[in-house]
Amino acid sequence: MHRGKGMKFVGDSRVPAERKPNIPKDYSEYPGKTEAFWPNFLLKEWMVGAVFLIGYLCLTVAHQPPLEKMADPTDTAYLPLPDWYFLFLYQLLKYSYASGPYNAIGAFIIPGLAFGALLLAPFIDRGPERRPSKRPLATGFMLLALAGITYLTWESAVQTDWEAKKEMGKIVAEAEIDKESDGYKIFEQNGCVSCHGGDLQGGAGSPALIDTGLTPEEVAEIAKNGQGAMPGGLFKGTDEELAKLAEFISTLESK
Ligand code: HEC
Repeated sequence: MHRGKGMKFVGDSRVPAERKPNIPKDYSEYPGKTEAFWPNFLLKEWMVGAVFLIGYLCLTVAHQPPLEKMADPTDTAYLPLPDWYFLFLYQLLKYSYASGPYNAIGAFIIPGLAFGALLLAPFIDRGPERRPSKRPLATGFMLLALAGITYLTWESAVQTDWEAKKEMGKIVAEAEIDKESDGYKIFEQNGCVSCHGGDLQGGAGSPALIDTGLTPEEVAEIAKNGQGAMPGGLFKGTDEELAKLAEFISTLESK
């Protein structure tokens, strides 16, 4: 730095009297085209960073986070899916040459080669050329990678049933359920749990039975005769039990 003998200072000894432009000595092959990392370059980076930061802040404030329901390891109907930017890696694992006994190929070897090459790129591609057309290998591999990622992401998106996926993760109504009540026991005994779930939260294809807005008569009717995709004749108890069950379901409200 510029400290030491022979330097003139103004009042503040940290400020040299003669201001030199903060351009570092030029060692590159592109005279005049470099700029100081500190503060010129960093300042620019920070300004762009700040714009993005504020943009993201506004986005997070404006939009609800796309959360799904609480993870439930016993729910085998749920299909976990990575976020869109990892779908290509996930899709790779679906092909026979990269799954099952060859899982290591899809999980480690192919992605490892790709990311390893990216990591080693500065050491492999050492030529001074900067124009893409003069760097056929680097450009070729980049285009190949882009095409691969685009194709795999596309395939994954096409193969996923997004409607069903949305249903699976939906945040469902929860109710305070008295599992000791007669109504709940009748619900259990008649096998309603197998479709509507132990917490009446619903399941694959079956609706939750919370906040149905149905009268006890309507529930009794559905329990006996079914409705839509729900078959009839499921309820096998007495009329008294049916009344209790219907009362139980029609009064369930979410917390
Ligand atoms: C085979 C799976 C299955 C079983 C078992 C089952 N349900 Fe259903 N249930 C459904 C489906 C599917 C629907 C949605 C019917 C429709 O409208 O298409 C439904 C709808 C209902 C509804 C109407 C909900 C609403 O909001 O409209 C009630 C009430 C109901 N079921 C009660 C029962 C009761 C009580 C039992 C036990 C006797 C039972 N269900 C057993 C599949 C089932």
